[in-house]
Amino acid sequence: MSAEQSVLNRYQELKQRLIYHGHRYYVLDDPEISDAEYDRDYQELVQLEAQHPEVDTSDSPSRRVGAPALESFDSVTHKVRMLSLGNAFSNEDLEAFNKRIEDKLGQHDIWFVCEPKYDGVAVSLMYQNGRLVQGATRGDGSTGEDITENVKTISSIPLKLHGTGHPKLIEVRGEVYMPRKGFDTYNKRAISAGEKPFVNPRNAAAGSLRQLDSRITAQRPLEMCAYSLGFSEGADLPATHSETLALIQRWGFKVSTVFSRVKGIQACLDYFSDLESKRHALPFDIDGIVYKVDSLEQQDQLGFVSKAPRWAIARKFPAQEEHTILNSVEYQVGRTGAITPVARLEPVFVGGVTVSNATLHNREEIERLGIAIGDTVVVRRAGDVIPKIAAVVDSKRPLNAEKIKFPERCPVCDSSVVYTEEEAISRCSAGLTCPAQMKETIKHYASRNAMDIDGLGDRLIEIFFDRKMIATVADIYDLKIDDIAELEGFGQKSASNLRKAIENSKKTTFDKFLYSLGIREVGQSTARNLAKAFKSIESLRSASVEELMGVDDIGPVVAEYVSTFFASETNQLLIQSLIQHGVSWPAPPEANAEPCSGKTYVLTGTLETLKRADAKNRLIALGAKVAGSVSKNTDIVFYGPGAGSKLTKAQELGVPALDEAELIKMLEAYEAS
Ligand code: IVH
Repeated sequence: MSAEQSVLNRYQELKQRLIYHGHRYYVLDDPEISDAEYDRDYQELVQLEAQHPEVDTSDSPSRRVGAPALESFDSVTHKVRMLSLGNAFSNEDLEAFNKRIEDKLGQHDIWFVCEPKYDGVAVSLMYQNGRLVQGATRGDGSTGEDITENVKTISSIPLKLHGTGHPKLIEVRGEVYMPRKGFDTYNKRAISAGEKPFVNPRNAAAGSLRQLDSRITAQRPLEMCAYSLGFSEGADLPATHSETLALIQRWGFKVSTVFSRVKGIQACLDYFSDLESKRHALPFDIDGIVYKVDSLEQQDQLGFVSKAPRWAIARKFPAQEEHTILNSVEYQVGRTGAITPVARLEPVFVGGVTVSNATLHNREEIERLGIAIGDTVVVRRAGDVIPKIAAVVDSKRPLNAEKIKFPERCPVCDSSVVYTEEEAISRCSAGLTCPAQMKETIKHYASRNAMDIDGLGDRLIEIFFDRKMIATVADIYDLKIDDIAELEGFGQKSASNLRKAIENSKKTTFDKFLYSLGIREVGQSTARNLAKAFKSIESLRSASVEELMGVDDIGPVVAEYVSTFFASETNQLLIQSLIQHGVSWPAPPEANAEPCSGKTYVLTGTLETLKRADAKNRLIALGAKVAGSVSKNTDIVFYGPGAGSKLTKAQELGVPALDEAELIKMLEAYEAS
């Protein structure tokens, strides 16, 4: 073989390997090699391309970095119009859609394909003899913009169709979107760089795709999911939509992993409620479900009304974004004195709940949004995420809009407010003499993951504190049944129950006690590490900053906080007092005596008997790690009803999956040993 031939062979081999592994990573979400390995091959490929300009780079992954900027986009006339979809907002709307179809076809129990409605941007991709030759936006349905260079940068779009025997011309259509994780990362970076963040992932996808400089598009975490074919020439195509999706998938595209072919309207309704509940577990935004008649022959029979097909419809979820008015801003003082501005909004129904408050985070956020009282704002609530104000509608600002003035003094105790730039946090400088900080400290102390005082919730603590029945956490243990019983809503019985709960909570563990103290930056995991390393309050109290920094995950800042906390005489007296009141814990077990140490478990679905947080804490107490996602390193997945992708992943990876009953059995056996 000539030297030239062997370079060419090596190049082909590398390119094919990178295409294969890119597909596993970007399309199947199931990589087979490490990122480092991929990068090594990629570097070699780029080098070969630079040294040998004669190699064919048209389908090379190196083409994904973008091309020089354009002056403007050319327009593209779609060979087949890109239609939109009619909307259904209720089960009745969907049933009416089905009835129209059944009547027109003279048939019951139609086969439908149900698929997510991606909240992104529609694109058309033209392939000539298997090679991507054009990418276009939908535009007005007849004419769109030529975004070929931009779509080429999206790794889940094949530059060359996989397999052989492709049609002479084939148009693949789908949606380009930005997954939530990429969106969050992008926005965080934009905010810290003083740039304007995107309002939502859809705007982010649209904005990224419409860059004249495709090198910018290449930097954005976009994906594409294909959902249909458009124009074709010289093609022998399947007779159903579901087979079309399978074909598109074989060509190397990402197609929905949750699409389903179902018979009859009831199954369509079931699919809706099932996916609606899983909606927020998907890694990207969807705004509804698209139903399509599966048979293409039936689709032809049904035809179109104006711009939408009769054979498909979009059943929309409740909106995740709404406009409302900012009525006022209030300031909350947290446990560490941090002052958080909270927006009081004209109540608005969004993402399935009525929202009347949203956090404004900090001073910077107020400035970044450029928000004023009286403004119309975009409230966004995606998933169980706390509602946020995504943007201000500038055009609707009233003449009397009132500028927001961040307080210079604590709104609760009137002490001065100290602002730290690194943290971007404004704090009340009074410490625990500020009633708000003390109240929050007590709430934290009594909370579930801390001392877990059953029945002593936030509201009750507010009442005890305001009536001066408690002033510090130690006072909780001096509460008298008779005093509690006098409060509205209490009787002797309920007061004595609360008293009992207070007594019962005294037996705790060392790490929980440390966590309860509310030392700055000491969360549950840091508390566990400290407890493990120091074993007793005496040795922790006398630990130096250097010794503290020797503990897992503890850096100089946290070490300093811990050391300062224990150096304070007030805190020492408080700890003494708590112990005198009977707070106690057993000596921590030897690390290697823990039955689950070295094991990694994942919990998924609803645990019906155990609470999720309890199950997690009990596993951790046994030395296990409880992870949020399934990988090869997971030892067992414990699942309950409603388990979805994590369970599927476990099955795919051959990770054992056990139900809640088995989990309870295991916990009880280990805890007894
Ligand atoms: S099918 C004639 N399937 O929704 C059928 N569209 O209002 C046309 N979309 O512009 C489209 N997910 O961008 C179809 N699974 C899906 C979709 C989907 C999102 C978008 C698409 C289109 C709009 C229709």
